[in-house]
Amino acid sequence: MIYLDSAATTFQKPVGVAAAMWDALASMSSPGRGGYAAAMRAADAAFQCRSELAELFHLPNPERVVFTMNATHGLNIAIKSLVPPGGRAVISGYEHNAVTRPLTALGAAVSVAESPMFQPEAALEAFWRLIAPGVDAVVCNHVSNVFGYVQPVEKIAALCRRAGVPLIVDASQSAGVLPLDMEALGAAFVAMPGHKGLYGPQGTGVLLCREGVPVKTVLEGGTGSASVQQEMPDFLPDRLEAGTHNMPGIAGLLAGVRYVRGRGLDKILDRERRLIRLAAQELEKIPGLRVYADPSGEHQTGVLSVSVEGQEAERLGTALSERGIAVRAGLHCAPLAHRSAGTLDTGTVRISVSDFNTPEEIIRLASAVRSGLERA
Ligand code: ALA
Repeated sequence: MIYLDSAATTFQKPVGVAAAMWDALASMSSPGRGGYAAAMRAADAAFQCRSELAELFHLPNPERVVFTMNATHGLNIAIKSLVPPGGRAVISGYEHNAVTRPLTALGAAVSVAESPMFQPEAALEAFWRLIAPGVDAVVCNHVSNVFGYVQPVEKIAALCRRAGVPLIVDASQSAGVLPLDMEALGAAFVAMPGHKGLYGPQGTGVLLCREGVPVKTVLEGGTGSASVQQEMPDFLPDRLEAGTHNMPGIAGLLAGVRYVRGRGLDKILDRERRLIRLAAQELEKIPGLRVYADPSGEHQTGVLSVSVEGQEAERLGTALSERGIAVRAGLHCAPLAHRSAGTLDTGTVRISVSDFNTPEEIIRLASAVRSGLERA
């Protein structure tokens, strides 16, 4: 199989990840639940993982690194902490259902900062028009999960700071690929999965919480702390981490984070961008295919969408599966992004790479697309 669906989950993990998970199963119980060796090993691994994540994302206090099940879980906490029922939110035109569905559930009035992709100046202007005092939160992804479009989050964050509006960044596609400085951004929350660019296992996620921002719980229960008290503790990470931790997951995530830090974000980004540029070059030669590539390459990461004229994307997705190539076709849980790009009717076939893909795989993809379209 040629795996090109890393925007969903990175499938090939660094060698240390499975070993760390196995070691956790064999040697760790739960952090904060006892002073015996197995509990202390779990506490150490959890603390190490928080500390390395805090360093990677420039968060001064590792205790404000909260473990979640995935990015959706973190986004739910962030959104529900800031936006009251019937509140007001401003979002980009490229958000995922993990943002739009919680806002819908809250009955929030949502304004969409509409702008064409790969045009960060236009995005900034659209946000500038909508960000104003009285908005409860701005929510924006760093990189679109459908198009790999890098949004100008640093400049959007500056607009938010000036207007005194809290910002939530969905770093699902950028964590482990693009630098993100929580302190410089001043974002209230940054949510991310552990199982994509951080190379951890599924079932892991991280929510970075800025000091002083109030946090609402979406789950209550045991924390191993302040047990007599019936309200959740008011300190992090305990307030947001009810129940037993996913220690094999956290240990695997720590190994993934160490891989990313050891290899360097710049090298990972460079590799992914080269592969995507090659994919765009090869796919643009194929008649009937529309390729959504940033001409400058500067505003796109390792994710590329293509659509087939007058045809549902799933047909090509299925043809590629039959040829041993794993991609994701359809709407990618992001109908808003497809609406913004004009691809809501057909969807797109999304190619997304990781640090483990090769140029040869991209050449084989292009030839499979050709043959898949000829036989369709
Ligand atoms: N949001 C993930 C994707 O884009 C699951 O595939």
